[in-house]
Amino acid sequence: MSAGDKITSVLVESRVFPPPPAFAAQARVGSLAAYEALCARAAAEPERFWAEIASELAWSQPWREVLDWELPDARWFVGARTNVSVNCLDRHLDGPRRNKAALLFEGEPGDTRVLTYHQLHREVCKAANALDALGIRAGDFVAIYLPMIPEAVIAMLACARLGAPHTVVFGGFSAEALADRIKDSRARLVITADGGWRRGQIVPLKDNVDKALDDPEVDVDHVVVVRRAGGESSWKPGRDHWWHETVDRASPRHQAVGHDAEHPLFSLYTSGTTGKPKGILHTTGGYQVGAYYTTRMVFDLRDDDVFWCTADVGWVTGHSYVVYGPLMNGATVVMYEGAPNQPGPDRFWDICARWGVTVFYTAPTAIRAFMRWGDEHPARHDLSALRLLGSVGEPINPEAWMWYRRVIGGDRCPIVDTWWQTETGSIMISPLPGATPTKPGSATRPLPGIAADVVRRDGTPCGPNEGGFLVIRRPWPSMLRTIWGDHERFTRTYFGDIPGCYFAGDGARKDADGYIWVMGRVDDVINVAGHRLSTMEVESALVSHPKVAEAAVVGRPDELKGQAIVAFVTPKGGIQPDDALAAELRQHVVEQIGALARPEELRFADALPKTRSGKIMRRLLREVASGSTARGDTTTLEDNAVLERLAASYQQED
Ligand code: PRX
Repeated sequence: MSAGDKITSVLVESRVFPPPPAFAAQARVGSLAAYEALCARAAAEPERFWAEIASELAWSQPWREVLDWELPDARWFVGARTNVSVNCLDRHLDGPRRNKAALLFEGEPGDTRVLTYHQLHREVCKAANALDALGIRAGDFVAIYLPMIPEAVIAMLACARLGAPHTVVFGGFSAEALADRIKDSRARLVITADGGWRRGQIVPLKDNVDKALDDPEVDVDHVVVVRRAGGESSWKPGRDHWWHETVDRASPRHQAVGHDAEHPLFSLYTSGTTGKPKGILHTTGGYQVGAYYTTRMVFDLRDDDVFWCTADVGWVTGHSYVVYGPLMNGATVVMYEGAPNQPGPDRFWDICARWGVTVFYTAPTAIRAFMRWGDEHPARHDLSALRLLGSVGEPINPEAWMWYRRVIGGDRCPIVDTWWQTETGSIMISPLPGATPTKPGSATRPLPGIAADVVRRDGTPCGPNEGGFLVIRRPWPSMLRTIWGDHERFTRTYFGDIPGCYFAGDGARKDADGYIWVMGRVDDVINVAGHRLSTMEVESALVSHPKVAEAAVVGRPDELKGQAIVAFVTPKGGIQPDDALAAELRQHVVEQIGALARPEELRFADALPKTRSGKIMRRLLREVASGSTARGDTTTLEDNAVLERLAASYQQED
């Protein structure tokens, strides 16, 4: 790993946008001085700072100690007991939020459903009772493989209520990927649907579950199936249960008990540098404090806000900013099931106008798609209710930032570019919209309480604009606690590189104003349309095909998706590479992982560039894939001719 490898110098962005005065006047933190005072207070007395925030939530038993740590390990709110579902729901039922809309749901076909806090609480209690009746106890893992429908939120909150950690698997993952996650988490129950709607088609979720459960190593007792799309699928009596028969008939009363603050709340799988996804484990007390605090500060949420985070609950953004963060803040959340261009490219703006969305949070890849589709689509809708825009998932290029501000935000809404990760659980670096002047393309400065910095390999701070590693120097409440089942990998991956710091793979620089510019990953993780994948994961999928001898996968810059996957494949002896084989291999990756991992380009090569010790030189392949000739150091390359042949074949076809 070398930061210099991936960190290229970028033009120093000079535009600065101060918070609009009217916004700042009403914001919780309304000036840079107030932000800096908060940072100073949090740095001087971090435990007191976090304890004050935690006290705004309900705990059935107080903590003995705020933090007990020796990195890599940290325990927060030691000895306390709490229930995240109570903090999301029950806590709001005694006041004016009782009959406030918690969820404004819209399905892709256009069906809608509104659930108030009172109604959502009833549904969650019913689901908790139904899961309990199926034998789920505190500590049992439950896999959730659902479309973006209210039952996904209900299922997550029901699990949290029981202390049954959930592992949500994105509906776009294949049966194989689902089986791997069920096996690794040892989930005994799966909650799914007969299908979900995506671009007018039914995604066959239940069929995928059936396939995953055919794997002899998957040991699942029960499958609960929501009737959503009306699709046909097989049924195994005794194992399969309709949601509307089990949950709807259960009692709407459920007395929640507190769980230990360090009790697992969920695990969520994400890609690392190896082929095996990691189950990132988050625990109850610290995670809830992080999600609650960041939603409140970054989105400056008010009781009359309508908050729409467009992420799927299958990703951490959906966990923290569709479900836990906004509901703990008593917000009204918009939830949409389908594609942004179904039936037309203005669907999102139509939703914003009809539901009166005030805070909108999406990913740069979506913003770039909207830009490409044309300004006329948002222009047709009244977006005047919007007051704040957010971005997450990858670096946002200044052009997209400026477009977002002008066309969607009408030049009046501040933009919060939020940097964080599955591992961090909640936002770490972001402007506070009423306080921080923004610069297009920078996530600006760490939130109060977050000790983020840009450092050299030895842990010493980088100078202004010097490229280095983005690290966190102190524990924060919503940090991951381990990789499920592999604490050694956790220690090595996150705390093995930079002395005394958490490091999860991003390169960055800090400018003279202390603004952080995230430059992307410095490891073999690629970010395709805001989704994290490891090159090894796609390579493993390719070499599992009987006709493949060897494969190397790299990312190349892509205007729309940020990065696109390029695969170099050496077929086994005697196999003729042709377009049909390329199509077969790309489809094979879809079956192994899911459509999000389908290589954009697949090139055959009679050999791959390697070092003398046999290590594939991905750096050179990256250069070939991005169309440039390999300019970097090739002295360790074993056979120079390999690279020349690869580059030549590229140029011929371009
Ligand atoms: O490389 C960073 C990028 O996304 C990675 C985390 O991916 P994931 O765990 O899937 O979580 C995505 C949603 C939080 C990071 O290591 N990333 C995320 N947000 C930003 C970003 N890169 C630059 N700017 C951001 N705002």
